[in-house]
Amino acid sequence: MDKPSEEIKPGRESVLEPPLQMSDEDFRSLRDFINHYCGIYFDVQAKFLLERRLSQQLRAHRMRNFRDYYFYLKYDPHREEELNTLAEILTTNETYFFREDYQLQALTEEIVPEIVEARKNEPYPSSEKSLRIWSAGCSSGEEPYTLAMLTKDHLALKRWAVEIFASDISNRVLTLARKGVYRESAFRATQDVYRRAYFETTEEGFRVRDEVRRLVTFGHLNLLDEERIKMVKPQDLIMCRNVIIYFDRESRRRVIKSFFDRLRPGGFLLLGHSESLMNLSTDFILRHFKHDMVYQKPGPGAPPGDAK
Ligand SMILES: C[S@@+](CC[C@H](N)C(=O)[O-])C[C@H]1O[C@@H](n2cnc3c(N)ncnc32)[C@H](O)[C@@H]1O
Repeated sequence: MDKPSEEIKPGRESVLEPPLQMSDEDFRSLRDFINHYCGIYFDVQAKFLLERRLSQQLRAHRMRNFRDYYFYLKYDPHREEELNTLAEILTTNETYFFREDYQLQALTEEIVPEIVEARKNEPYPSSEKSLRIWSAGCSSGEEPYTLAMLTKDHLALKRWAVEIFASDISNRVLTLARKGVYRESAFRATQDVYRRAYFETTEEGFRVRDEVRRLVTFGHLNLLDEERIKMVKPQDLIMCRNVIIYFDRESRRRVIKSFFDRLRPGGFLLLGHSESLMNLSTDFILRHFKHDMVYQKPGPGAPPGDAK
């Protein structure tokens, strides 16, 4: 399993103050609590990371030990607020536009045309059809905006509406995503043609144009919150990349089951390049496209065959 990374969280870790000591028992209590809350799993090698990241919270609350912090997270009336902070400091938010371009090529050249074909016999005109995509774990918005740029003028989607729902557990990154202003590093895999067409230059950086922003709706959602996930509309495609790699197997299973339930029959699930459903689910069909392999829920348009 991938380990939560050592990415430094802005303004969160003090270089001057050493981390407080966490006992093995407190480590286990906090690890299990965090895992249950958001799926992220810190194994014993990552104890120092947890110690370091949570030390600042103890100091902020003037607490002397991790046991007090654990009880605070569990029982305090302000625990919801603290859980939000926890999501900010424990998640890894690395992302950029047009990440994993071979998968995006499969999406535009093969998957979107297949979806359109599979839905062609629906009893209403294409002007009333909408393609729904969910970017689950969208971080600061580069992924859903990429999807918006790729589908906006897609020929197969002429007269279709495109609705992209983008969610994350961290309010900090969602605020950045809604703002939609990016610096140079977000464009490391972006062709100039997209930057010219879909961004305007401002003093703060490159701002996503309104015609692209309009296609994306952002929402705060914990992927382990099964009750709230039931409220997500049925989707044609779910993209969840580089999110569940930080989870333990049971949390991954739960999330994949939720995705299966939220997909339309025949809908697609796109994971990150190092992720697979091996040992997690046999409900999906593994499709071999020219550019990438992706998962599909059985249904219209899906080939018969063994779920993998
Ligand atoms: C490494 S980023 C991936 C961003 C984007 N999908 C990509 O591949 O470029 C992982 C994101 O997953 C979010 N995340 C982690 N656990 C989550 C959970 N339980 N529910 C929702 N989002 C979560 C993090 O906040 C973070 O923004």
